[in-house]
Amino acid sequence: MTWDDEDLLRKSPNLERILIPSLDIQQRVRQLANEVSRDYADTVPVLVNILKGAFVFLADLTRCLTIPHEVDFMAISSYHGGTQTTGVVKIEKDLKTNITGRDVLVVEDIVDTGLTINYLLDMLQTRAPRSLRICTLLDKPHARRKEIPLAYTGFEIPNEFVIGYGLDYDEKYRNLPFIGVMKS
Ligand code: PRP
Repeated sequence: MTWDDEDLLRKSPNLERILIPSLDIQQRVRQLANEVSRDYADTVPVLVNILKGAFVFLADLTRCLTIPHEVDFMAISSYHGGTQTTGVVKIEKDLKTNITGRDVLVVEDIVDTGLTINYLLDMLQTRAPRSLRICTLLDKPHARRKEIPLAYTGFEIPNEFVIGYGLDYDEKYRNLPFIGVMKS
């Protein structure tokens, strides 16, 4: 599927510019899927999707994988201390899959401070998966507060507020096929 990114940008007056065009995303997702398909060729991994932001990435990634795999979903909410995220998350919807002994690949849209994924990794680790790794579309290293090992990264991005391809501003813009930057 192809989109006219510039036309969509023109129709979104609150957006400043496109950071990652849709074609670049589609190409990179295919590359990541090839790497994952190669690395997990001897097993049937469980792809764990953290709602909501990562649903678009997972939908594209899963259709490019050439190996048998399962998908499952978790929904979480973050506790905030003042305006800052504390990294403590509450599970709103848990996995249906028993991941004990399984190869688990957590699929995220963005790792920012790293606090959310750090908390989730600790929690999932208590369920004794055989392996537990992360695949993130976006990595914003400048905001990092916890060192997180990222097995697969789509793009490293600058410290800007981005939307599109699953990421929202006030629940809007998740549908955009590109990653864009909001006007400030
Ligand atoms: C985003 C994203 C990650 C988290 C990353 O979720 O999907 O889960 O923030 O931030 P961190 O590295 O600073 O912890 P968000 O809370 O925006 O919810 P959403 O996915 O439902 O939009």
